[in-house]
Amino acid sequence: MQRLKDRVAIVTGGGRGIGRDIALAYAKEGAHVVVSDIDPDTAKKTSEDIVNLGQKSIYCVTNVAISADIQTLTQKTIAEFGRVDILVNNAMKIVPGKLEELPEEAWDTTMNIGLKGSFLASQSVARHMIKQKSGCIVNISSIAGLFPYNWAGSYSIVKAGLIMLTKLQAVEWAPYGIRANAITPGYIRTPGTEGMYADPVIYEGRRKGVPMGRVGNGEDITGVAIFLASDDSQYTTGSVVGADGGQAVGYFLSVPGRRFSGGSVE
Ligand SMILES: NC(=O)c1ccc[n+]([C@@H]2O[C@H](COP(=O)([O-])OP(=O)(O)OC[C@H]3O[C@@H](n4cnc5c(N)ncnc54)[C@H](O)[C@@H]3O)[C@@H](O)[C@H]2O)c1
Repeated sequence: MQRLKDRVAIVTGGGRGIGRDIALAYAKEGAHVVVSDIDPDTAKKTSEDIVNLGQKSIYCVTNVAISADIQTLTQKTIAEFGRVDILVNNAMKIVPGKLEELPEEAWDTTMNIGLKGSFLASQSVARHMIKQKSGCIVNISSIAGLFPYNWAGSYSIVKAGLIMLTKLQAVEWAPYGIRANAITPGYIRTPGTEGMYADPVIYEGRRKGVPMGRVGNGEDITGVAIFLASDDSQYTTGSVVGADGGQAVGYFLSVPGRRFSGGSVE
């Protein structure tokens, strides 16, 4: 049985990586998907692939940091499908940098895409979900929202903020039948992180830091994203669901082979 049959979903950053994987996974579960991305080519490609799966799909070139683009995204969705059931706030761009050197624009870029963009998109679709008296929001946070990612600019702050936005959405919108939950992926190999994982030394170092002993992939996220958008999670809201191979249990410390003794870690 398809768990998202005839639901209408918007996925931001759906052109590639985790967003694309979620968009395709939702389509396989019977959803019709609006693919939003700043990159027209990848957005179009994901949308075409969804149509080839037998579902309806449109794409919308969107910069989630711009309010007018978000309004267009919502209007196009309503014009095409008449409703919106699911929003996945996934679009993000990391601008790395040490705190003492981080340019103001780098701070703004990450904040505006990851946090303001998620707020704007949620607000815009929630106005329709409130009228429908139903809806699901899935915010793609990160393990970086739970633990500080050093030298990654404001990334951890954005992702921590997204967790609090999720909780706020859950309590403010529960009376309208809207659920909001966050996923905190760990190390996931995507086009966005490929530059890093292509280096075998970095790959091996990261792999060893995951209790399950492997770096994740898109499929490690899609199951959770389907669960949180479906009726299987009908009593779940305001939750932060990990998809990290166990990393959050003992971040930095749970390296196989390491042992604790006398207050130090070997
Ligand atoms: N890959 C990981 O290890 C990992 C871990 C934890 C969390 N995440 C989160 O998962 C999400 C997806 O990550 P990914 O690795 O698939 O990224 P990615 O870079 O591969 O894909 C991001 C997508 O977002 C789009 N995008 C960027 N700026 C945009 C904007 N202003 N408006 C609309 N679209 C925009 C890009 O064009 C791209 O298609 C992000 O929120 C990321 O922070 C990723």
